[in-house]
Amino acid sequence: MTEPVADQTQHGADARARLLSTFSTPPSEHGKGWSKLWDEGDFLPWDKGTPNPALLDILTDRRDLIGPAMVEEGSSTRKKRALVPGCGRGYDVLLLASFGYDAYGLEISESAVKGCEEEKRANGAMYSIKDEKVGAGETKFIVGDFFADTWLKEVEGAGKFELIYDYTVHYYPIPTLELVLHKNLPMLPQRTES
Ligand SMILES: C[S@@+](CC[C@H](N)C(=O)[O-])C[C@H]1O[C@@H](n2cnc3c(N)ncnc32)[C@H](O)[C@@H]1O
Repeated sequence: MTEPVADQTQHGADARARLLSTFSTPPSEHGKGWSKLWDEGDFLPWDKGTPNPALLDILTDRRDLIGPAMVEEGSSTRKKRALVPGCGRGYDVLLLASFGYDAYGLEISESAVKGCEEEKRANGAMYSIKDEKVGAGETKFIVGDFFADTWLKEVEGAGKFELIYDYTVHYYPIPTLELVLHKNLPMLPQRTES
């Protein structure tokens, strides 16, 4: 897996100061803050270099919670579509595909999406197929804002996902964040500012 950026500067007082200065802007500017961090690439404290262990646990041991990776549609079956908003370097997207989901990674940062493609190219073989009967799903990495709907045109099936897995798409407190149901995608939150 990709070696995460991890040293003392990623945690502690200096790190907190860097985060505060990056996100001491109105929420509408936070996307630029994330993109700046990814573009600079030397301060990515959330990046573990591996899929989230909690997701791996659910996929491995708690299928009762999420069901199979295939879904019936009409008279046939197809792979379920899974979305990972704010997917970072895409580890969870690659993991979901290895379990048979057609997995979409959404990122506000173009550099992060380049990182996803690099992770897939360099380490894709490590995400081995978990069920030969189901096979591997497709992966697609999209640059877009989770709270807008323009990226939906790049998704098969009119933006309908059977599974959405979010690990800290908004990691830091945003005081003015208000979540309402999205008009086209009822399971997704939409942001308004007050
Ligand atoms: C704390 S990181 C977590 C990344 C990844 N889930 C992980 O566990 O490694 C949050 C990610 O969400 C992305 N992000 C933040 N706001 C976003 C938005 N509105 N739409 C899409 N991605 C967003 C950031 O660029 C960042 O990569």
